[in-house]
Amino acid sequence: MNFDEIKKRAEFLRKEIEKHNYLYYVENNPQISDLEYDLLLAELESIEKQYPELKSKDSPTQKVGSDLSKGFQTKKHPYAMLSLSNTYSIEEIQSFITRTLKIVDRKPTFVCELKFDGASISLHYRNGELVEALTRGDGEFGDDVLQNILTIPNIPPKINCEYDFIVVRGEIMMHRDIFQKLNEERIKQNEAPFANPRNAASGTLKLLDTQTVAQRNLQCYLYYLLGEQIHLATHFERLEQLKKWGFNVPQWSTRCENLSDIENFIQYWDNERHKLPFDIDGIVIKVNEIDLQEQLGYTAKSPRWAIAFKFKAEQATTKLISISYQVGRTGIITPVANLEPVQLSGTTVKRASLHNADQIMLKDIRIGDYVIIEKGGEIIPKVVGVDFARRPEGLEKFNFITHCPECNTPLIRNEGEAAHYCTNYYCPPQIKGRIEHFVSRKAMDIEGLGTETIDELVSKKLIYNPADIYKLTKFQLLTLEHFADKAADNLLKSIEQSKQVPFPRVLFALGIRYVGETIAQKLAYSFKNIDNLINATYEELIQTEEIGDKIAQSVIQYFQEQDNQTLIKELKEAGLQFSLKENNLIVSEKLKGMSIVITGTFPPPYNRKKMEELVIQHNGKLVKSVSKSTSFIVAGEKPGPDKMELAQKYGIRIMNQQEFLNILEN
Ligand code: IVH
Repeated sequence: MNFDEIKKRAEFLRKEIEKHNYLYYVENNPQISDLEYDLLLAELESIEKQYPELKSKDSPTQKVGSDLSKGFQTKKHPYAMLSLSNTYSIEEIQSFITRTLKIVDRKPTFVCELKFDGASISLHYRNGELVEALTRGDGEFGDDVLQNILTIPNIPPKINCEYDFIVVRGEIMMHRDIFQKLNEERIKQNEAPFANPRNAASGTLKLLDTQTVAQRNLQCYLYYLLGEQIHLATHFERLEQLKKWGFNVPQWSTRCENLSDIENFIQYWDNERHKLPFDIDGIVIKVNEIDLQEQLGYTAKSPRWAIAFKFKAEQATTKLISISYQVGRTGIITPVANLEPVQLSGTTVKRASLHNADQIMLKDIRIGDYVIIEKGGEIIPKVVGVDFARRPEGLEKFNFITHCPECNTPLIRNEGEAAHYCTNYYCPPQIKGRIEHFVSRKAMDIEGLGTETIDELVSKKLIYNPADIYKLTKFQLLTLEHFADKAADNLLKSIEQSKQVPFPRVLFALGIRYVGETIAQKLAYSFKNIDNLINATYEELIQTEEIGDKIAQSVIQYFQEQDNQTLIKELKEAGLQFSLKENNLIVSEKLKGMSIVITGTFPPPYNRKKMEELVIQHNGKLVKSVSKSTSFIVAGEKPGPDKMELAQKYGIRIMNQQEFLNILEN
């Protein structure tokens, strides 16, 4: 590769890594395994090492991924929250020890710990009282999720400690049995299941409703104590101190003298880890003596006094018999591998995910191949590659289907997207999927319309689209199997009640591609009623908080379709809520006609989310970027520099939180 190509490769890797950081930390929906991610990062690191001119401060090799999200106050970490350097080989543990010995002035000891696969948390105790609980965020700033943390029973809100200020760090975990139950429940309610317990734990921490958090049975394991006033000389003694204060410190942490002790610990846990009630993804090895830790110091991203040995996800090889296709409610086609049954991590696997056509092509997967499958804590295992040495002769190159397997409509592929779509509105799995989504708990919350009933109603041609639900009669329901008088009455009652569901949820229920719960809320708050939204231009849409090109296009496309227009007309006639005002969300008209930009973070009681709500409640319009037509800007701490600059350029008033609150009071 010449320099230009290497430069391009580095840019590509940076973008890929940023994308996967976002999927992992923000969306809680990782799409590649840790190993695949670590390989991308290692490649970028090696390029940057060889060509320092390609290194930049904002490269993902120099910073940790960010989980910062809206709705929480962002606060600065008193001690940066770094990540750990990773390895998959014992040789590198040996190099870690050798490197360590070269730097420190006497022989260190080590502590080996489990590497908990959850969401990290930093607990701040002032005079013994838990005052803040920050997520890792971008390592420098984290989101304060204290209210959620206070619902976790094994985190003490008060401790008997003489220090002014201490920081206790650990991992928020969801045990596997709880995770399984939660997912079963979600599937029953037609909600998307979490991919693994880690995603479930970090998704739960970011919920804005503490009651739901409390029901999720999270656990916390603590492994790190920091504070200016703490003079305990070793990490191990600090763990003991944490135990005395009543923290849940894992009992498995072990002092080790040398590589052989460390190797034994690794071996033991690689075999035994499945017996734990939660997931671990490796072992952490830490230098025990605090003064030696200080001598070793830190790189931009991680301490030099610790390293993580990561377990490889368990893999198995088996024959790919055929590929089938699932059609989702928005028409997305997902290829699924049908496999010769094989044992993997204690379960028999017959099916595995193939993601999309690009992935199949990239990995050159062919029917008849021996494929390598992997289970990385996810529910459905995935095909990660082909064992080419075992490829039988004459296997044909795989071709993705061109027509929908359910209704034979030609498939389309949008530019820049990996997925294939079926565009037939009346394709049966889409009809069913749309209705399942529509009635789900977070949407219209219609109880008594489970998957089987929907299947029956659709196959008996009693319903085609969600509006038909409102035309169902008791007589029709009684013709269904297993539907007695009481069940029919209950269902009709639940259908009637759903007419009171507020507009944001109705909008979410429509199932517009990329319009999840939060986006539906933003759109509803911004446009106030469905007619405004239907008539919104592309420019107006992308002015809305969190709405970008992809969502704006999707919304416009949705309302352009005749079938959707008919659906909305019918739903309106049925009496559903299609505007905000009817729900008394608007408390005053003080900000009517004003376009307002909120930027930066804000102190309680009105955090960023509250501030945004205030704009909506007073009938203002929340916009995300500054233009000539912006009425004013409310700036908090760390406001967006671009926004401030534009405001000055256009002479738009910038006010602080208090000035804004004063307007609302007068
Ligand atoms: S110590 C300065 N110990 O792994 C590093 N981290 O990949 C302090 N983790 O962000 C972290 N188990 O969330 C430490 N026994 C353990 C851990 C652990 C899990 C997580 C932690 C950290 C991430 C780094």
